[in-house]
Amino acid sequence: MTAFVTAILSRDHDRNGFHSGVEALDRYLREFAFQDIKRRVAGCFVALDDAGEIAGFYTLAATSVPLNLLPPAAAKKLPRYPVLPAMLIGRLAIATKRQGRGLGRALIADAIIRTESFRIGAYALIVDAKDERARAFYAANGFASIPAEARRMFLPMATALQLIESV
Ligand SMILES: CC(C)(COP(=O)(O)OP(=O)(O)OC[C@H]1O[C@@H](n2cnc3c(N)ncnc32)[C@H](O)[C@@H]1OP(=O)(O)O)[C@@H](O)C(=O)NCCC(=O)NCCS
Repeated sequence: MTAFVTAILSRDHDRNGFHSGVEALDRYLREFAFQDIKRRVAGCFVALDDAGEIAGFYTLAATSVPLNLLPPAAAKKLPRYPVLPAMLIGRLAIATKRQGRGLGRALIADAIIRTESFRIGAYALIVDAKDERARAFYAANGFASIPAEARRMFLPMATALQLIESV
């Protein structure tokens, strides 16, 4: 089995060879990821295979979620702040040849561990599912819909940490 390591995106990584089947995501990695890093609007992390090729990537950025948009069962356990801090996985993509083998799930676990390691306030991970396939993938990985938001889904960090500890 191929072993992967994750790392902060660097200019040494070959971004041109990355193909996920979604051109907008490939283009983001090639052309915009470093701009976002430079402007401090996203961090970008890559999974590298044993040859050093990019097998997948994701981005993280600080975000917030209004308390009153959360399902009542989740909201009732939280302080009455109008908005809660959260961490946005803005983009996530796996190379076509590596899809369907657990790497997408592993990168979500990496995002959970990385967020925890920052020791900052982040009540939940947030994603925007771009289509039904992405929604099904995130639902299979523990994310629930935010009722009033068309695409936005959330996974409380406390639940996320329990999920990865149980694997
Ligand atoms: C969506 C994507 C990130 C999933 O990554 P992956 O490595 O192929 O997925 P994994 O193998 O880690 O799957 C993990 C779990 O999610 C499930 N899953 C994966 N894709 C799914 C889908 N389309 N529908 C339902 N479940 C799905 C798997 O069955 C697996 O669950 P299981 O272990 O219970 O069987 C990847 O296919 C991809 O990069 N697609 C193109 C870009 C994209 O759509 N990104 C989403 C951005 S919103």
